[in-house]
Amino acid sequence: MVVAVPAEITAKQLPQSLFEMDSISRNQIEQHYTLYENYVKKTNEIHSKLRDVDRESVNQNYSELRELKVELSFTLDAVKLHEAYFFNLGGKGSRPNSKVADLINKSFGSQDAWESDLRASGMAARGWVITAFDFDDNRLHNYIADDHNTYGIWNALPVIVLDSYEHAYMIDYGIKRPPYIDAFLRNLNWDEINKRVDGITFGAEPRPSM
Ligand SMILES: [Fe+2]
Repeated sequence: MVVAVPAEITAKQLPQSLFEMDSISRNQIEQHYTLYENYVKKTNEIHSKLRDVDRESVNQNYSELRELKVELSFTLDAVKLHEAYFFNLGGKGSRPNSKVADLINKSFGSQDAWESDLRASGMAARGWVITAFDFDDNRLHNYIADDHNTYGIWNALPVIVLDSYEHAYMIDYGIKRPPYIDAFLRNLNWDEINKRVDGITFGAEPRPSM
């Protein structure tokens, strides 16, 4: 049985601003982009195999279908997170609009509190920090992921994405993560983040904080 699968995806081109950032080098971004291109390639390869993989003799211990679907969660989440990461950078000088500033304040208490939690989360995570809008409580949360496909929270939309893997900063900072997180925050593209939040239809008022 052939099952229709998504059309091939292609790696998105990065804007010039990504190669002209403050304290995150062109070489760092170019090498990181190469990893992203490979995730795109592998996602297409898995989708292609899923068209006609054996769906008769599947099982939960080992089967080709199972392995393809597990690895799809790795490669496709990697594509999505890297795109969110790259495109929320390169905006030095941009500012959060009032809707985004209000949302951050309502969710964390203040912009400083959001930053403080993001910095700490960035040191605690082995892979990602994701400031996500959760549609179930209408507020932002800083979630962490140790891999592209671990610890994700459902029904939440990534709004600000920090890649905290060493490969994201090793060329520029060696093993020093804090100055990289500083540079990430300085280079955030708030115009892009504002657009992401503008696209959200808010439900009820956020549940109150503790
Ligand atoms: Fe990465």
